[in-house]
Amino acid sequence: MADRGHFNSRLGFILAAAGSAIGLGNIWKFPFEVGNGGGAAFVIMYLLFCFILCFPVMVAEIAIGRKTQRNPVGAFKALGFKNWAIIGYLGVLAGVVILSFYNVVAGWAFGYFLEMLSSNFGIGAQFSDFIKDVTKIGLYSICFMIATAFIVSNGVAGGIERAAKILMPTLLVLILALLLYALTLPNAIEGVKFYLIPDFSKITGNVVYSALGQAFFSLSLGMGALITYGSYVERNQNIVGSGAMITLADVGIAFLAGFMMFPFVFSQGLEPNGGAGLIFVTLPGVFESLGGTIGTVVGSVFFLLLSFAALTSTVSLLEVPTSFAVDEFGTERKKTVWVVALVVFLVGIPSMLSNGSVEWLSSFVTLPGHDSAISFMDLMEDLASDTFLPIGGFLISVFAAYVWRTENLNEELAASDASIKDSFLLKYINFALRFICPAILGVIALVTVLDRFFGVSLIG
Ligand code: TRP
Repeated sequence: MADRGHFNSRLGFILAAAGSAIGLGNIWKFPFEVGNGGGAAFVIMYLLFCFILCFPVMVAEIAIGRKTQRNPVGAFKALGFKNWAIIGYLGVLAGVVILSFYNVVAGWAFGYFLEMLSSNFGIGAQFSDFIKDVTKIGLYSICFMIATAFIVSNGVAGGIERAAKILMPTLLVLILALLLYALTLPNAIEGVKFYLIPDFSKITGNVVYSALGQAFFSLSLGMGALITYGSYVERNQNIVGSGAMITLADVGIAFLAGFMMFPFVFSQGLEPNGGAGLIFVTLPGVFESLGGTIGTVVGSVFFLLLSFAALTSTVSLLEVPTSFAVDEFGTERKKTVWVVALVVFLVGIPSMLSNGSVEWLSSFVTLPGHDSAISFMDLMEDLASDTFLPIGGFLISVFAAYVWRTENLNEELAASDASIKDSFLLKYINFALRFICPAILGVIALVTVLDRFFGVSLIG
């Protein structure tokens, strides 16, 4: 096989994988899911899911990728378990679906960057008209898909590593600064309370379900994105440690983004359960309150960095179907990238139209346990992130622990340094993959499948 390329350094891999993880999921999706899920109780469930369930699955994915040096479909075949390649096929499908709507939201973020440049702070109040403007959004998301395809066609391990090294710390600093500012605002304390003091009566089946989906989505887990990234990692890297750092970085940014948002939401007298528009409605007012030029600068830098964060994520999403096609069908990489990007863009069109511009797409279906209809885009989000990803995670944990087997997994995890075998983290990973992940994810997957596909409603 041709040289697949490698990340240039350990830091390079961590940055690229963290770049894949940190994106709209942290800054756009996490706050509104917290808002819809009733606040602190959702935050706690999310944190528990990330550390207890997702971290072990992440390490397993990276190990499978590095061991086999293949895409998510090829990886299972290379280990000699053809039937398990179903995980990879599901992953490729989930990748296409997620990228199709993700790219639309990335277009919103990019559009907001332009609006902030021209100091249009009123855009927050016009959010629902903004996302209806199909010509504009279409243009922004085409640009976004082109940028993504351009990066992927030049290989993951190049420019992305370098850009991430500068941009992600800057994003972190900006979030911290906004967080401190938020805390000075009137009524901010109500937001802090909402975010940090749990009301466990708010936890319903649907809240558990979306906290779990959010954990997987935010860590880019359950569809083989990290199998693919792991396939570019060299054997002298400690992937247990890298996995821990990626998890911490991603969860840290999500936590801070939420911490920043709710004081803003409450100080403006807005409702926390504003849904997908939450940051887009709230933040322009915040930037306006900073006054003239400062507001324009901070606002445009914020949405520019958000667009970059989204770009390092869309890159990983496009990489999965691309590396699948290149490895499995031997197609030429550059051409494949553009064809896949075009297909994904087309798949995303109904999502783009489902935010108010086309009526039937905008209230497309009513899911069990909900009282109002959701849009086509929300359905894609629900199916791909909250349904496919946890099912993928369940299958990966069962595969790693019982099919590929713990000894082989550990062999790969300790390839850089035999002493890793005695570490507490590895012991925990083994235990979790054997018992905790299959049990919890299995139950949730079963309930979800019954609920979503057979209408047997156990969650409410
Ligand atoms: N994790 C990214 C975010 O939070 C989105 C993402 C990128 C993703 N690659 C993925 C989600 C793979 C699931 C699977 O914005």
